[in-house]
Amino acid sequence: MPLALVLLAACGKNMVQQARYDSYEPAGLFGNGMAMQRAPEGTLSREDAARMASEQRPAMNRALVERGRERFAIFCVPCHGRDGSGDGIVPARGFPRPPDFHEKRLVEAADGHFYAVMTQGYGVMYSFADRVPPRDRWAIAAYIRALQATGQKPGSEEESVHAAP
Ligand code: HEC
Repeated sequence: MPLALVLLAACGKNMVQQARYDSYEPAGLFGNGMAMQRAPEGTLSREDAARMASEQRPAMNRALVERGRERFAIFCVPCHGRDGSGDGIVPARGFPRPPDFHEKRLVEAADGHFYAVMTQGYGVMYSFADRVPPRDRWAIAAYIRALQATGQKPGSEEESVHAAP
């Protein structure tokens, strides 16, 4: 087998066993004399960086609010109702009734509060972190703001399958 011979001939030991430090070994190269060094202040792992980038708040525009409207209808309307007043079909069947988004406290709450409630859950309301990605959470928060600003009951739109009877 000539090919295998050629490959074996290239396997010198010094390519496999090169000089290196093990994690807890002393090392004269660094000031503290140790091979392991603390990451510089403010260092982020690649995972941290990716998460922070994805959680960054997207720019507010009409498309974002539209996306939020659509996601809100899917994930939130069953409990919070189409107008956010808290009279969805689920509380009508006995689940605790959510607060009205038009309440003063929630009108005055920061956008980040809505994002945090979706991310972490709130009281008896479970988290949506595994179903609604960060960008969509911001989109939904933007739509809730629009709902609060208009204060209108969107009855003129086509009825959603989630609408309370
Ligand atoms: C299964 C029903 C249900 C669904 C679905 C649901 N919620 Fe809730 N939500 C609740 C209930 C119940 C509360 C009140 C929880 C409590 O006070 O213990 C609540 C509370 C809230 C609050 C108020 C927090 C506060 O400061 O009082 C916000 C904001 C909220 N939900 C947003 C959302 C959004 C956005 C969605 C969709 C992604 C959603 N909810 C989906 C049931 C639901």
